[in-house]
Amino acid sequence: MTAKPYIDLLFFGDLVGKPGRMAVKAYLESLPERPDVVIANGENISHGFGMLRKHYDEMHEAGVHIFTSGNHIWDQKEVFTFIDEVNLLRPYNFPSNSPGCGAKIFQLPNCEIGVINMIGQVFMGNYNSPWEQLDELVYDMLAVTPMIFLDFHAEATAEKMAMAWHASSLGVSAMTGTHTHVQTADSKILNNRMGYITDTGFNGSYNSIIGMEAAGSLQRLKSHIPTRLSVGPDDILQVNAVRFTIETKTGVCRKVERINEVLTYTGESILPLSAR
Ligand SMILES: [Fe+2]
Ligand SMILES: [Fe+2]
Repeated sequence: MTAKPYIDLLFFGDLVGKPGRMAVKAYLESLPERPDVVIANGENISHGFGMLRKHYDEMHEAGVHIFTSGNHIWDQKEVFTFIDEVNLLRPYNFPSNSPGCGAKIFQLPNCEIGVINMIGQVFMGNYNSPWEQLDELVYDMLAVTPMIFLDFHAEATAEKMAMAWHASSLGVSAMTGTHTHVQTADSKILNNRMGYITDTGFNGSYNSIIGMEAAGSLQRLKSHIPTRLSVGPDDILQVNAVRFTIETKTGVCRKVERINEVLTYTGESILPLSAR
């Protein structure tokens, strides 16, 4: 489909509330050239919990082509009214009668790419096996395109690394973990094929606890009383993303670049922290 020898796939870890949307928009606007594929995890995009249509539209307009998600996807009930109409995946190994879909081949201007969203089982919910379904899924997608991206939304590092070994042997081009909201320093290429990072991290409030206001998280942990959490402040923002450079003919990932930037919001514009 594409004549380009390589494509750039930019993935943003979980966007947490308004600071997450602000950070990603500012980062995309700052790029001299837009990547061919922009994917983001949107499970926390609306007030930290789930996704509203207006926030999907806002970020789609800003340049995010496709959203993956995770355990928070159903937090905003409005999502049931639009998940089938937009480029938003929920984990593939949710119960089979769940709304939406968990894997799809997307046609973008410069490429055709298969995107898969899976959720882990270790320290997570009682989900179906992500292992039993992946082989057939990748096999079917490879018949259409050599480029496949996997977001494995999981808690345990070892489960994510095990999935990475398996996915790379099946022929996946790029994989990231999400859910822990902390970027890991282990980006690499596995089996001479797949770009990988255990977790891309999150986009949102820098002075926060994984994107949420510290006071509420502390209150919840110290008191064991259910406490409503709110999104952290937006004066300083962080961008956590990973850029994969993938050979279009073969689907082999040649380069993985971690992006971890801090921006400051002046009330009018968003600038690199150093320009404050
Ligand atoms: Fe998340
Ligand atoms: Fe999650």
